[in-house]
Parts: sequence; structure tokens; C-alpha cells
Amino acid sequence: MQELVYILGIESSCDDTSAAVSCNQTMLANVVATQDIHKKYGGVVPELASRDHQKNIVPVVDAALKKANISLTQINAIAFTRGPGLMGSLLVGTSFAKSLSLALNIPLIEVNHMQAHILAHFIESENGFPQFPFLCLTVSGGHTQIVKVTGYLHFELLGETQDDAVGEAFDKAAKILGLPYPGGPLIDKYAQQGDAKKYKFPISNMTEFNYSFSGIKTDFLYFIQNETKKNANFIQENLADICASYQACLADSLFKKLIDAAQQHNIKTLAIAGGVSANSLLRQRLVDLQNQKNYKVFIPSFEYCTDNAAMIAVTGYFKYLQKGFCDLSITPQARYSL
Ligand code: KG4
Ligand code: ZN
Repeated sequence: MQELVYILGIESSCDDTSAAVSCNQTMLANVVATQDIHKKYGGVVPELASRDHQKNIVPVVDAALKKANISLTQINAIAFTRGPGLMGSLLVGTSFAKSLSLALNIPLIEVNHMQAHILAHFIESENGFPQFPFLCLTVSGGHTQIVKVTGYLHFELLGETQDDAVGEAFDKAAKILGLPYPGGPLIDKYAQQGDAKKYKFPISNMTEFNYSFSGIKTDFLYFIQNETKKNANFIQENLADICASYQACLADSLFKKLIDAAQQHNIKTLAIAGGVSANSLLRQRLVDLQNQKNYKVFIPSFEYCTDNAAMIAVTGYFKYLQKGFCDLSITPQARYSL
């Protein structure tokens, strides 16, 4: 019989405090405390994020254990996000995980947040798991990457953004439109009623499979400034069309490179991961690729798109199987490559 391994996962890289309990690849609990405090500042304020993690971490872990109906003595190992992320935020989860591992005398497993976003596809669900090799488009508030995945812990970065992440491109445009942070989900929402062909926003074409999203944001700012000079109500009168057009340009850029990479590497299995993978247009474009172009596609459930500890726990499970433990001198890494 297969051994049952219980992992407590801890995630605190940015502004979500999360704890999860897994049993092998099955998720028993995944509790997320989202920090609303950043809304009024229009973006994440690092110091406030660390303070909120300090406040939330114990109740969130408690809630996850209760929901999973598991006691601490049943946990086999603790997995935590080592990076990339905000240093003050990472320190909270790292210190908590180290202390608990010391107190319980169980192994500690450090997890790369970007690997974990991808491995969320291996949490038990009715969709099944992607077969290796596959390409994953990882799109979040901090990253935009095309990754070739050849094994549970084997990743090759094929391309990435050279400046802003696509999540930032969503959030900054939303801010220009006067929408609250994080604006990505709101652009998605308004876009659903809009005409995606009404406006065009050029996207810089980078070499190979790399991206750039800082130019489009500046163009967008100038466009809105010009139009509102002519008509003070321009945003209110055209919000849906603006959102739909802008979102479509971002999606075109993301998918062009993804398909180029898939063709060059002769890979027919595609996945998407990270907070921006909650976007309805990106999800629809993937479904279209499956229906019209014969790709096999994997789209995570909403719960596992934005930051969560379930993905940390499942990554911890794969590392546990390989005895990929770390010692108590481990430190967080704000920058941590794949
Ligand atoms: O992965 P994540 O939760 O945190 C980071 O590691 O960055 O991603 C957060 C990003 C934010 O930029 C947010 O606006 C974006 O994901 N996001 C979306 C949607 N839902 C979340 N962007 C576009 N459409 C959405 N539906
Ligand atoms: Zn993330």
C-alpha cells in the first residue's frame, strides 16, 4: 500500500497568508487570508504585508488543521515558500515553518513559489494531470514565464518578461482607469461586455520567447490622457471596450510566444498557472487551442490560480519523496530563480 504523507504547506510571499494540509496529492484544506488593507494604497505595501502575515499566520494554520481534521502530530513535514517574494513577508512564513519543524522534530522543505504555481496542476482533481513534457505559461503579479516542465522537479525557463509582469500590466492599467487594486479581475469583468477590437495597444516584440509589458502600460496612460482631454467622460462611456481591447492585446502577446515555443519544442501539452490564469479570456483561448488546434490543455481551478499554500504543500510532497529537506539555517530569497 502507498504510504500516506501529510504535509503542512505555508505561503506568505506577498499579500496572502495561506496554510494547507495535503495527504499525498489530495488537498485536505487550503485556507487563505487575503489582506484587504492594500486596496486603499493602490498596491501592496511591503511593511503592512509583513505585519498582517504576523497577525494571520497562527489563525490560518489553526484553521487549516481543523478543516483537514488533522492534528500537528500527524504531519510528516512542513513545506514553506522560500522565495521569490517580498523579504518581510517571506521572513514570517520561513520563521514560522522553522520554529514548528524544530518543535515537532519533523523535516523542513523549502519551496520555490514559481515552481509551486506550476505544480498546482498535480493536486488531485477531476481534470487529471499533465503528462511530461509540457509547457506552462506562468503569469502573476510578479512574473511572466514560459517554462518547459520535464518532470515534477525539472523546469527549464524558455522565456520571461524583461521588465513588468503581465499582472502588473493589468493592475497598472486598472489604476489609470481609477479602479481599485488588484485591478486585474475588474478589467476581466468589464471586458466581458466590451468590444475587443475597438482600440489597439502595440506590444513590444522581444527576442526568442521573452516578453515586455512596460511599453504598453505607458502607451495606455498616454491614450487615456489624450482621450480624456477631448472628452472628460471618456473612461465612463467606454470602460468595457477599453478593458476588452487592452486585455485582448495582452492575451495576443502572451499566446503568440507560447505557441511559438510549443512549435519550436514540438510540445502539444500546454498549461497556465499563477494569479493571471484566473483571467477568463486566457482560459478561453486555451480551450480554443484544445478544440481547434489539437493541443491538450490544463487550466487550474480558481482556488489554485492566485497565491495559495496548497501548491506549496503539493510541491513539498514531491520533494519529500526525494528527501529534499533543508536545515534550520535556511534563509528566504527575495529573488529566487526557477
Ligand atoms: O499569483 P498571484 O496571486 O500573486 C503573485 O505571485 O503575484 O497573482 C496576482 C495577480 C494580480 O496582478 C492580479 O491582478 C492578477 O493576478 N489577477 C488577474 C485576474 N485575477 C487575478 N488578472 C487578470 N484577470 C483576472 N481574472
Ligand atoms: Zn504567485
